[in-house]
Amino acid sequence: MQRWLVIGARSALGQAVCRAALARGDDYRGLTREPGDDPRLCGWQGDEASLLRGLSQWQDEGYHISHVLICVGQLHGVEFAPEKRIDELDIEALLALMRINAALPVLCLKHLLPIVKNAHANIVVCSARVGSIGDNALGGWYAYRASKAALNMLVQTAAVEYARRAPEVRLMLFQPGTMDSPLSKPFQRGVPAEKLFSPDFVAGCLLKRVEELRQQPAGKAWFVDWQGQTIPW
Ligand SMILES: NC(=O)c1ccc[n+]([C@@H]2O[C@H](COP(=O)([O-])OP(=O)(O)OC[C@H]3O[C@@H](n4cnc5c(N)ncnc54)[C@H](OP(=O)(O)O)[C@@H]3O)[C@@H](O)[C@H]2O)c1
Repeated sequence: MQRWLVIGARSALGQAVCRAALARGDDYRGLTREPGDDPRLCGWQGDEASLLRGLSQWQDEGYHISHVLICVGQLHGVEFAPEKRIDELDIEALLALMRINAALPVLCLKHLLPIVKNAHANIVVCSARVGSIGDNALGGWYAYRASKAALNMLVQTAAVEYARRAPEVRLMLFQPGTMDSPLSKPFQRGVPAEKLFSPDFVAGCLLKRVEELRQQPAGKAWFVDWQGQTIPW
């Protein structure tokens, strides 16, 4: 049996991966801001203390993690939207996205290392194609792009250290494509129906990429899209 840990478990993708895990006879645990009455979920508010509480609860329970999915992310908020022009740049929005999209995932990697250091485990962190500097020909979306580019650097840096301290762990930066979710909702209008993926479809792609991840070398995070194509940094 494979055991998943999903951080951001109530995200559209997190829920779909949890469903897929159960359907395959696997199991999951998760951290989310709203655990509701699901006993497999623990509450957190994106802070270090509640992250540690959740992780130690599952360690005490003897839950041995096979795969981690970190799918926290934010693109827009009540008071801000992705910038079309540099004039719209707002420092509070930029810092908020840096915290959620870059700092929170690497904080998870910090506290996961001692837990998975002797395991054959896979860690998937949700990134985005717009976080690729080499691929950026369109511009715009300053804060989201920069936070995902920072995430990529943080995860690659962690991959170098994990190769020494947790040599059987592999790390992936996963780009889901355009997926129907609260995050993408306001930006779906121009997307052709066949290019707007359901979370269940993307979860199926993610599970395939996880199987391929073991072939990737330690020390190099694999920045890859839903269909298995490597994305340039
Ligand atoms: N949808 C797309 O088209 C698309 C494209 C490229 C990349 N992505 C990336 O894929 C990942 C999953 O996105 P999604 O589309 O499934 O989005 P989503 O349904 O909007 O989920 C995002 C989740 O992030 C967590 N989150 C947001 N703000 C947080 C905060 N302040 N503190 C703690 N957690 C917070 C929440 O998890 P809980 O509700 O569990 O607390 C939220 O449900 C994200 O990293 C996103 O950037 C999505």
